[in-house]
Amino acid sequence: MDANQPQAWTRTARLLHWGMALAVLVEVPAGFAMAWTYGSKVAGDQALHLRASQTHHTLGMLILLAVLYRLFWRWKHGAPALPGGTAAWQRLAARGTQAALYLLLLLIPLSGWAALSALGAGGGYPAPEMWFFTHDGFASGLIPHLVEPHPWNAKVLLGYGLFARAHVYMLMLGGVLVLVHGLAALYHHFIRRDGVLRQMWSGRP
Ligand code: HEM
Ligand code: HEM
Repeated sequence: MDANQPQAWTRTARLLHWGMALAVLVEVPAGFAMAWTYGSKVAGDQALHLRASQTHHTLGMLILLAVLYRLFWRWKHGAPALPGGTAAWQRLAARGTQAALYLLLLLIPLSGWAALSALGAGGGYPAPEMWFFTHDGFASGLIPHLVEPHPWNAKVLLGYGLFARAHVYMLMLGGVLVLVHGLAALYHHFIRRDGVLRQMWSGRP
């Protein structure tokens, strides 16, 4: 074993893991509430749409910042070893799933940000909905555009549709991976009884 390998998940690692899991748990319903109330004429739906969009975009950008910090932290500190008896394929599956989750935690918010960046007023669609930390985060220069904005229905490759579709497909993949990841943690806890989940929860083996 590497002498520098940590023996346990530290408080910071655990706070980042569970804090981000909680943030995703809020982010997903906010995304659905936003998507399902697009263009609604009902006053209550419009208010919900505004709140859900603000929550979704702001929290999503915070998740992006948090994962950058988390990856830096992980690179500096490493991870505790899996229990001795873990089969090679299980090690590979665990690390592969976790690496894919990290990648999606980067790419999902980036694709959402790019989708909003690609939106421009015009084409009969009302001014783009770009509520971040202010009511008009893009225009005030707080958050840069990742791609050039165009009217929403312009025939361009790097338009809203491409990034929004990527956002949704990656979400589906993320849902499957989180399920596999959570079930694997329960398998360790209840069947193998090897302390992998307890370690992430309390920091004690
Ligand atoms: C980990 C972070 C994120 C998660 C888990 C997430 C999740 C979701 C979900 C569940 C939806 C509804 C899917 C649907 O359309 O049926 C959605 C839609 C959307 N999200 Fe996110 N999101 C994240 C970050 C962001 C960020 C940072 C932005 C922009 C700043 C963003 C912008 C959007 C947009 C524009 C849509 C509508 C896509 C469409 O037209 O269907 N998302 N997101
Ligand atoms: C369903 C609830 C969840 C449970 C029970 C759970 C449990 C765990 C456990 C026990 C570990 C440590 C594995 C090890 O020691 O090798 C871990 C690591 C990890 N989890 Fe979760 N998790 C959950 C939700 C999530 C969610 C929602 C995400 C992402 C959005 C996530 C992302 C990660 C990542 C990226 C790692 C790897 C940490 C690293 O090696 O740096 N987890 N999880």
